[in-house]
Amino acid sequence: MNRVSLPPLPYNYDALEPVISETIMRLHHDKHHQGYVNKANAAIDKLEKYRRGELELDIRATLRDLSFNLNGHILHSIFWPNMEPPTEDNTPGGLIGDKIDEFFGGFEAFKKEFEAASKTVEGVGWGLLVWDPLSEQLLVVQVEKHNLMHIAGSEVLLALDVWEHAYYLQYKNDRGSYVTNWWKVVNWDDVDNRLQKVI
Ligand SMILES: [Fe+2]
Repeated sequence: MNRVSLPPLPYNYDALEPVISETIMRLHHDKHHQGYVNKANAAIDKLEKYRRGELELDIRATLRDLSFNLNGHILHSIFWPNMEPPTEDNTPGGLIGDKIDEFFGGFEAFKKEFEAASKTVEGVGWGLLVWDPLSEQLLVVQVEKHNLMHIAGSEVLLALDVWEHAYYLQYKNDRGSYVTNWWKVVNWDDVDNRLQKVI
């Protein structure tokens, strides 16, 4: 079976300041994301041994570990390149700009829905913008943990991590300010490229 590995950040650890601090980025990328990579690989190791007949396995528990940790790895691997150094008037253009207008009625209306989803995730999770190829539309999705409430088969275009490890050292319990500030660091070219590949 294939193993996964931690991708390097596409910018320096301090590149997103003042929106996201260097300290958060170092811990978040080097410790938390690495942890999901390690635990996903541990689950894959177990499954490989199980397939060879070398290990009895609690399949339910192992597949739960795999889903949680591999999705954690996948979502963080989208989250990092979804961001770039901050700009004040940061709005989407290109195809993603057109599709946001088409499905949400404008960028402000999209922001309102995405912020509401991200701010109200119960416990830990993600706000996502996805393209569902079956219904051929953009959807805002609220994911709990890394894997619950996801839309099967949808392509994640934009991911916002609202686990406390993503903001607590800087924003304390004020998830709302973190979410509002985060728009300054969204890399809309990356989001546009992701949409172009799947539409
Ligand atoms: Fe995270």
